[in-house]
Amino acid sequence: MAVELLASSESHHDNFADLDLEGILDAVQQSAGDVRDSIALPPKLYTSERWFDFERAAIWDQEWICVGHASLIPNAGDYFSITVIDDPLLIVRGEDREVRALSAVCQHRGHLLGDATGNAKHLICPFHSWSYDLTGKLTSAPEMGAHIKLADLRESHSLPTLKVTEWNGFLFVCFSDSPPSLSSRLVRLSDEVRNHHMDQLIATPTVDWEDQLWNWKFMHENAIEPYHTAYLHQKVHDFAPSTKVTFVEWLDDDDGAIYHPTGFNYADGNFTPNFKCMFPVLETLTDNERRRVMFACVMPNLFFAAVPDGVLYYLLLPKGANNFTIRVGFLYPESTLQLSTFEATFPSVVAGLELFNNQDVEANISAHTGLKSRFAQRGRYAPKEETLPQLNKWLLKRYRSFASEHGLIS
Ligand code: FES
Ligand SMILES: [Fe+2]
Repeated sequence: MAVELLASSESHHDNFADLDLEGILDAVQQSAGDVRDSIALPPKLYTSERWFDFERAAIWDQEWICVGHASLIPNAGDYFSITVIDDPLLIVRGEDREVRALSAVCQHRGHLLGDATGNAKHLICPFHSWSYDLTGKLTSAPEMGAHIKLADLRESHSLPTLKVTEWNGFLFVCFSDSPPSLSSRLVRLSDEVRNHHMDQLIATPTVDWEDQLWNWKFMHENAIEPYHTAYLHQKVHDFAPSTKVTFVEWLDDDDGAIYHPTGFNYADGNFTPNFKCMFPVLETLTDNERRRVMFACVMPNLFFAAVPDGVLYYLLLPKGANNFTIRVGFLYPESTLQLSTFEATFPSVVAGLELFNNQDVEANISAHTGLKSRFAQRGRYAPKEETLPQLNKWLLKRYRSFASEHGLIS
């Protein structure tokens, strides 16, 4: 009984009776209307760990979470590690070529399995050498035969697995046993980026930017609103001016369409030190697609920029309301990765990204400080922030549906 009490009182997945959910969701509604009269989300929703508990239950435990690109693990036995909030996972390609998402937590006493990336036939725990196959099945447990048969131990002590799906080459996992449909809410976005053939591009090794000290939602906002580009990024963003942005309409049944193309002043622009593509452009793009970048948020945690020579993407991995990791990666055609100049040129591409990102980081940290103040305002949105009420609509739908399914609102 004592153990049960501890488990329920410490669980993030409680009844949220301490939250005025009716009031909070009404307030979010004011952020999720027409951009002309919507206002920013309540500041506390960016800073409160308690609200993050609710978001974790309502969104992160329900939705498809992007963990990386399938090309990171091309061969049987390839795997990489990723932690989604408190759950370290291994994304593994099995002998049968299937991709599986396994908990990386050894079922003996919790030691983590695997390295950041690797190739293995078995996952062997360094602590007491229990070992698992690539489907997560326990295959050996030294000395345990004296207490329990391996076959019985396997029944109860194999690695938990999560559901996996793929969209455009990106791998997604879901903690829920009944995941929502992913592709049906990405119909228009899929169409917009069809010519990038992202499922055929190859991922560069990812890099983790740890300890981003602001809220994961604000990161999406920063990435997807072009209002700031003319000011915060003045001069460096001039080749892709916010006057060349196109917004799309919000449709409830295709609600993953949180994207906007931004036109360039010339073909083959890019976020590099010389504001041009440094690698050959994709042969499959139209002239129009060579004159724009497509920015998209695949909520809750993938952001990408499809540029003429490839794709840059961020995975947002929250640790709470006030800290998250960005896992950064690039996708290119195989032919680009094989260029003799690739190794020498790629650092300049990364430096270009950092030029923009450093400006964004400073702004995001500053705004996060502002949002903690008693004087933080729910400011009116500008015309070029049209994607922000769209993000809020996406969130509100999930907040509401979780709250009503669990009887938390009437
Ligand atoms: S914790 Fe993994 S074998 Fe003991
Ligand atoms: Fe920016």
